[in-house]
Amino acid sequence: MEELVSLCKRRGFIFQSNEIYGGLQGLYDFGPLGVELKNNLKQSWWKSMIYDRDDVEGIDTSILTNPLVLRFSGHEDTFSDPLLDCRSCKARWRADHVKKNKCPGCGSEDLTEPRPFNLMFKTNVGPVEDGDSFAYLRPETAQNIFTNFKNVLDSSPHSLPFGIAQMGKAFRNEITPRNFIFRVREFEQMELEFFVKPGEDEEWHKKWVENRLKWWEEQGISKENIELYEVPNDELAHYSKATTDIMYKYPHGLEELEGIANRTDFDLGSHTKGQNELRINAKVAKNSQSNAKLAIQDLNTKEWVVPFVIEPSAGVERGFLAILNEAYRIEDLEEGKKRTVLGLKPHLAPIKVAIMPLKRNDESIVSKSKDIKGLLQAKLTGRILLENTGNIGKSYRKHDEIGTPACITVDFQTLDDETVTIRDRDSMKQIRVHLEEVNTYLTEKYRI
Ligand code: GAP
Repeated sequence: MEELVSLCKRRGFIFQSNEIYGGLQGLYDFGPLGVELKNNLKQSWWKSMIYDRDDVEGIDTSILTNPLVLRFSGHEDTFSDPLLDCRSCKARWRADHVKKNKCPGCGSEDLTEPRPFNLMFKTNVGPVEDGDSFAYLRPETAQNIFTNFKNVLDSSPHSLPFGIAQMGKAFRNEITPRNFIFRVREFEQMELEFFVKPGEDEEWHKKWVENRLKWWEEQGISKENIELYEVPNDELAHYSKATTDIMYKYPHGLEELEGIANRTDFDLGSHTKGQNELRINAKVAKNSQSNAKLAIQDLNTKEWVVPFVIEPSAGVERGFLAILNEAYRIEDLEEGKKRTVLGLKPHLAPIKVAIMPLKRNDESIVSKSKDIKGLLQAKLTGRILLENTGNIGKSYRKHDEIGTPACITVDFQTLDDETVTIRDRDSMKQIRVHLEEVNTYLTEKYRI
């Protein structure tokens, strides 16, 4: 893990948040390369969820959340971790992180009894701080998908099965944030709520587990580093009938990358008006505050159905960390030399192509390189960088280390015959390509 953390800082993937004032625990900032990789990962998820299918709509909802949403969702009552204090060193620990009744910090056995600690952040809304005018920062992106169920259906009609997807920030006041960006207090989720007919939920649950495993593989996560965990009944979240966690072998151990839950009709049933007139399977609290009927009419039987929900919910930061871990390698070269390579899938690479003028101060070569950068940037998706250091060897090493799939060198011959050298990150092989062919070559070879 230390090597990854060091690479992330050195090359501008991830910085500690608020570092110049000593930082703030459990928060990280994404630097120039980190933001590109993160956006590419999210874009890949969005494409697979929305563009590649026609039965899912995307939305982007507010982070500040009316407390009623999180009351009826069950989060006010149940979204907590058992916490205990060490009376000796005053540290706080999650009960499941304390082994043999000893403080993990100082070893003392003088600990308080565990008590629930709600993980939601509250903030004041409006100018008066009277205790009632507060909102929560959403602890999951899912809830405003449920509260928008009718809005989405009214504006984009669908019949079952169909889904609503959202990606964005979520906030949890984790008691012990740790393991770099694995467990943090502010993070991003990529969540799909897929609504199905009651009775078809178990079949769809299986399909989504398969779908998500395939997608992670396409992001470069090898099968050998993945395990499925069927969450036992006594560990299930309050809304879940069954959850399968996709576990990844992180450098610090096997931990959850994504959860795929069968949330039954708990959420729509909890947030809907007219609960008595609907058939709701889950045990839900009485709701007399909602003004929307969160159900769908079966066009054949005319019966109103509260759909069941299958929810694949992935963490962006956890995906980011797993992908970096998979991609990072140190290769032995000739004469005892080594090189560090980030073998990222090209669609995830922060920089797609680096254009390198052979001579830093040669006006004709630099000007030609700028033209090539402009042409490629207009045609390809993602960042094309002009890397004008004048030291081609050093620039290759840098781009190997940050995962750039291809580097293009512009030299004196380019000025004569319009050809450039393209050097491949993984094989280090170089080929000469005419400028008219470069775009097609890159698109076909790297799918960028
Ligand atoms: N809507 C369901 C839900 O939020 P969850 O298992 O609590 O379920 C889903 O979270 C995913 O969000 C996890 O699999 C993980 O990838 C990510 N996640 C949860 N808490 C996190 C944290 N503190 N830091 C980073 N990622 C987190």
